Amino acid sequence: MPEIRVFPAAGEADEVRSLDLYNAIHPREPASLSEARDWRRQQRHSELFLAELDGELAGSAHIGIPTYSDLPTGKAYVLSTRRRHGVGRALYAALASWAVAHAAEAMQTFIDDDDAESLAWAERRGFREVSREALVELPLAAYEPRPVEPPAGVEIVTWAERPELARGLYDVAAEVGPDIPGDQDHRIEPFEEWLSVHMQGVADRPESTFVAVADGEVVGYAKLTFWDAKPETLFHELTGVKRAWRGRGIARALKHAQLNWAKEQGYATLRTSNEARNEPIRRLNAALGYTPIPGRIKLEGPLAQ
Ligand SMILES: CC(C)(COP(=O)(O)OP(=O)(O)OC[C@H]1O[C@@H](n2cnc3c(N)ncnc32)[C@H](O)[C@@H]1OP(=O)(O)O)[C@@H](O)C(=O)NCCC(=O)NCCS
Repeated sequence: MPEIRVFPAAGEADEVRSLDLYNAIHPREPASLSEARDWRRQQRHSELFLAELDGELAGSAHIGIPTYSDLPTGKAYVLSTRRRHGVGRALYAALASWAVAHAAEAMQTFIDDDDAESLAWAERRGFREVSREALVELPLAAYEPRPVEPPAGVEIVTWAERPELARGLYDVAAEVGPDIPGDQDHRIEPFEEWLSVHMQGVADRPESTFVAVADGEVVGYAKLTFWDAKPETLFHELTGVKRAWRGRGIARALKHAQLNWAKEQGYATLRTSNEARNEPIRRLNAALGYTPIPGRIKLEGPLAQ
């Protein structure tokens, strides 16, 4: 019988071993050590596990309970050459025990939509699809700057230019969050916590957060984040416009400002993730020339130990 040992990471060497393994298995979505650590900073509770098969590292798993939900999100990953020996099962059991100890009743995970083997593995354990994230990219090599034309009375600025707008950004996030399909378990944190988790991470910079302001009120914003492990690519996080201001071209103006800025700064690619049912943002991105790349499926499953 092969010997499987699962244990929590202890120190930087384990963190690096886990991350190297994660990046080897997920080359399209690499993370740097600072990004992995920031992910953990953003969780209320989190843990990282490693798994050895006959004394050699074969797999790893991470899990966290975010500040905006009670549902833990976890992921187990096993080197392709070390699969079918029970390492994934042992890691899943460790995640499930951890989640039960943190009063959870279920967990979520993300699997690439073209990874049939992992999807079948999760489905055998009772995981079911709850939403689909379509990923799209825009290469900037051929991009020509576009006009930034918000409706009359609305100006587009950066948060770096207007740092006092933080509370207004929060109000937009609070209003638009419930309108995003697939995030039904999400709730907004108190302001200071929201600011720290969503706006002051290693990937966040005020100069890449574009804000629509009408008569001093923040009516929308669009945030681009940096990607340490893939530095030529920027990622669009939230694009949100308050309900009363939708349908007037504000999101388009914000996006044009972002695209122009990214091109001017010399970035090669913009990437974003849109829930499959989110028609408004998907249409806008398609109109701007973003094209699909393989996406991700969000699944929810039981905590079988
Ligand atoms: C998505 C969102 C930001 C759009 O803001 P907006 O200011 O109303 O968008 P615009 O007026 O600039 O519309 C630009 C284009 O987007 C698309 N679009 C916007 N709203 C749409 C809708 N309700 N249905 C279909 N397409 C829509 C269209 O292509 C539109 O161009 P058109 O008017 O020429 O047809 C807004 O609906 C929102 O805040 N939603 C909640 C948050 C969210 O889901 N954000 C995206 C995930 S991060």
